[in-house]
Amino acid sequence: MIPPQAVSGSNLTFSTIEPGIGLQAALAKSPGEVLEIIKRSGLRGRGGAGFPTSIKWNLAASTAAEAKYVICNADEGEPGTFKDRVILADYADLVFEGMTIGALVIGARHGIVYLRAEYAYLRPHLEAVLQRRREAGRLGQRVGGREGFDFDIEVRMGAGAYVCGEETALIESLEGHRGEPRNRPPFPIDTGYLGRPTIVNNVETFAWVVAILAWGAEWFRSHGTNKSTGYKLFSVSGDCARPGVYEFPMGITVAELLRQVGGEGAKAVQVGGASGQCVPASHFDRTIAYEDIPTGGSIIVFGPQRDMLDVAENFLEFFVDESCGQCTPCREGVPKLLEGVRLLRNGKCSMAYLNQLCSLGETLQLASKCGLGQAAPNAFLSIVNHFRDEILGRT
Ligand SMILES: Cc1cc2nc3c(=O)[nH]c(=O)nc-3n(C[C@H](O)[C@H](O)[C@H](O)COP(=O)(O)O)c2cc1C
Ligand code: SF4
Repeated sequence: MIPPQAVSGSNLTFSTIEPGIGLQAALAKSPGEVLEIIKRSGLRGRGGAGFPTSIKWNLAASTAAEAKYVICNADEGEPGTFKDRVILADYADLVFEGMTIGALVIGARHGIVYLRAEYAYLRPHLEAVLQRRREAGRLGQRVGGREGFDFDIEVRMGAGAYVCGEETALIESLEGHRGEPRNRPPFPIDTGYLGRPTIVNNVETFAWVVAILAWGAEWFRSHGTNKSTGYKLFSVSGDCARPGVYEFPMGITVAELLRQVGGEGAKAVQVGGASGQCVPASHFDRTIAYEDIPTGGSIIVFGPQRDMLDVAENFLEFFVDESCGQCTPCREGVPKLLEGVRLLRNGKCSMAYLNQLCSLGETLQLASKCGLGQAAPNAFLSIVNHFRDEILGRT
């Protein structure tokens, strides 16, 4: 078969892949060879942090244990992100197939999809696809006819907490505990679900594994940049003519992305959701890639009429609500930043206090226990940095 040449925009590569092809290709190889293909592709996790998938899988594969687990992170709680919902609705087969390939590589018998509470309506569809895969011999005993390869997947529901998208909080939640992040190390690859080696990957990451097995590592790495290979799905919303889910090569400039979605004339773009960076128009020549502006896929376009203090306030309110409260910098610091934004709104924040708030934000980035608190000040700091005149215009 010929790999897709010009899949981009709202045509998704995933629509070109027939379920079963990736698994068949994987079963024709040894787990080590499959791992080598994923390594050559350069695939990095699509959930935001961009950790190399082959390294994670290799570490879990080389840890000896009587049980191992494959977890699909379908919590998708980042504001402005909805691409995993589209993948689960239209290409669930590929996600389950990627999890099955992960199981083959690390030697797992059990997979779990941790599904965002708000996506409960997708569950019957996911269960139906799972059942079809069992009937086709792609799940269950002797998967794909391979003796000794037994693997099945269950769907478990989240309960609506954003922090449960953080992989160790997700595992705590799956174990029936409060969804609070764990201290790391140890990492899930050696001490994960029920204390066993576990790979946790994003929905999109699993689907790309199948595309890579189907179309080849060279096809994947011929797109994107050296450090950020392949394509990525983006959830585009806000002040643009054509919001939706798009596929673009990694390394696309913000300006080009805006052109494709009808967002020319934007004043700023929030790349990476509430946890990401607010990129002003003067930086639209920058690229969306792990080495420049990283993202899990959320793109929120702000038109010229938007009030950037509203933006900062909205994101900080979200983090105040969603902080698990476990560590002091995040629990106490994020409300202080929100209070500061409200002082700015009323023209009652002195320059000296604004500077203190910025250094508080930097402290949160360094001292918070998990990614939620570390990222909570990002939007505030970038808005203060790039829109200082606008937000101080009120003082
Ligand atoms: C507060 C918080 C929320 C997160 N939410 C998600 C999420 O909804 N989906 C996701 O895939 N990763 C999320 N992550 C990242 C995960 O911890 C983890 O890095 C990811 O699932 C690994 O998969 P990947 O390597 O395929 O990207 C979140 C991280 C933090 C700190
Ligand atoms: S940074 Fe926030 S969300 Fe993370 S552990 Fe600390 S209090 Fe909880």
